[in-house]
Amino acid sequence: METVNEMVGASPAICAVFDLVRKMATTEMPVLITGETGTGKELTAQALHERSLRKHGPFVPINCGAIPETLLESELFGHERGAFTGAVQQKKGKLEAAAGGTLFLDEVGDLLPTLQVKLLRFLQEGTFERVGGQETLHVDARVLAATNVDLKTAIDKNLFREDLYYRLGVLRIHLPPLRDRGEDTLLMAMVFLKQAAMTYRKSIQGYTAQAVDVLRTYSWPGNVRELSNRIRRAVIMAEGMEITPQDLDLASEDLQTMDSLDSLRAAHRRIETELLVKAISLHRGNLTRVAKDLEVSRSTLYRKLRAFGLKKFVPAATPHSLGSRTKSKKPATLSAQESRHGESPESAPVGAPLEPIHQLS
Ligand SMILES: Nc1ncnc2c1ncn2[C@@H]1O[C@H](COP(=O)(O)OP(=O)(O)OP(=O)(O)O)[C@@H](O)[C@H]1O
Ligand SMILES: [Mg+2]
Repeated sequence: METVNEMVGASPAICAVFDLVRKMATTEMPVLITGETGTGKELTAQALHERSLRKHGPFVPINCGAIPETLLESELFGHERGAFTGAVQQKKGKLEAAAGGTLFLDEVGDLLPTLQVKLLRFLQEGTFERVGGQETLHVDARVLAATNVDLKTAIDKNLFREDLYYRLGVLRIHLPPLRDRGEDTLLMAMVFLKQAAMTYRKSIQGYTAQAVDVLRTYSWPGNVRELSNRIRRAVIMAEGMEITPQDLDLASEDLQTMDSLDSLRAAHRRIETELLVKAISLHRGNLTRVAKDLEVSRSTLYRKLRAFGLKKFVPAATPHSLGSRTKSKKPATLSAQESRHGESPESAPVGAPLEPIHQLS
């Protein structure tokens, strides 16, 4: 089972992104999503759409960098019959296909200047013409855009219009690289392992301690996409019950150099964090079971989760919820369900699933 629409994360950096998604989703304004390759820009655009009032309308992505320049205008705005050689019939573009929903312009920095003008007009007036068309058309579509190039530099080089940049980028979300998301790498590694083990029907339980070290120290230049692909591959390759560094097969030059001598305190913290993340994943967020498994009291567990920046896992106790025990389903995710229920971690019962933790309410 592939969960494409769920964003996993618990680090402060990604929680800040979740907050922005929550706040920006319901506006009608464009949002400019930036970040390195594989950081989740498209996933974020989908999350914005699914939490918007347009969620029942279409989400239409178009990659401005992957379509030949000559075709892009017609792909985006459509064309009339006879507009150019081969235009044997009228065709609606992606913009019209997004009516009532969201148009996602991926790699928006690759738009040619003429198309930038046309897009700017659409953003300002909501109007455009198909290629070869005279009729002015109106479409009700929200525009989200993403780029992994620095548009400011593109503006300086006169490759991108400044006025379009300010139109698109009033609201911005920057996705941090995976290497800046701390223990999220391990958390996602658990989630992806579970998904891949299910897909490939392998009974792999987890990672060896060395594999955990490798996951932690690798710099992940391809970010979440690379992590997910590596783990899928490792699951296919693995012969034992645990994934080894060999299964992960990561280039050693991209392993960040670690201090050869961890301080005792840092090592302690690292091991504890690792155990906590593992246990939380294993028990699907049921903190009562996690505490039992790790042989600590619940209050010690909460204290440690807070101390290690994993406090988003901690659902605060409310008087009526103390007796309540919900069966958990998934680890911490930004799921569509969360936005529907609008639950907050503060109102979740003790021992509740992690699911409502990174919700979009
Ligand atoms: N927070 C996350 N939780 C779970 N999966 C994620 C997360 N972020 C990204 N992914 C997964 O990583 C992969 C890459 O994400 P996505 O395509 O959204 O990245 P991108 O920034 O658009 O990449 P590119 O710049 O290469 O187009 C996808 O399979 C996506 O489902
Ligand atoms: Mg993308």
